[in-house]
Amino acid sequence: MQRKRIIKVKDKTFSVTISERAIKRQIKRVAEEINRDFAGRKPVFLAVLNGSFIFAADLLREIDLPCEISFVKLASYDGMNTSGRIREVIGLNIDITGRPVIIVEDIVDTGLTMAHMLETLKLQNPESIDICTLLLKPSKLQVKLDIRYCCKQIPDDFVVGYGLDYDGFGRNTKDVYTIIQN
Ligand code: IMP
Repeated sequence: MQRKRIIKVKDKTFSVTISERAIKRQIKRVAEEINRDFAGRKPVFLAVLNGSFIFAADLLREIDLPCEISFVKLASYDGMNTSGRIREVIGLNIDITGRPVIIVEDIVDTGLTMAHMLETLKLQNPESIDICTLLLKPSKLQVKLDIRYCCKQIPDDFVVGYGLDYDGFGRNTKDVYTIIQN
């Protein structure tokens, strides 16, 4: 089937910028780094839903270490803490105490989500925590983050596809698309 170069997701138009082939090549590279760096260990992969579900599935099939995976979500709701908002990691059904943890994320933009995730997970005393992201917008980062594994750095433009969404839609494409019209 011919792949579309331009797609419409709800009211916005996007054009293809990262092909499935390029994505797969970068995932293989990152997986090889993880296989080498974690040789002899049993990492726990924590895939952050919803955006990372396709990336996590492809990444894990390139990992040849004994490993576990759990799918987590950052739930945010109004609560009674000082900032007025409570953000909690939900769905973590593996005890990560003393384990090497690798967070699998679709995209790091401001980095605030990841910073919060790290803070919360550290409370459980894992042996180590590393970040593995499919995409990174370096010019948008607002916090200092040590991102050990990154498949691709991209400019500060909104993207969809390969798991990433615009308002819930657009996750189901094999390529990544960038917005061309607001
Ligand atoms: P951050 O906290 O600003 O780093 O935001 C991270 C989250 O925002 C990601 O996990 C995505 O869900 C979402 N996000 C940021 N940029 C994009 C984008 O270009 N397309 C789709 N989702 C995005």
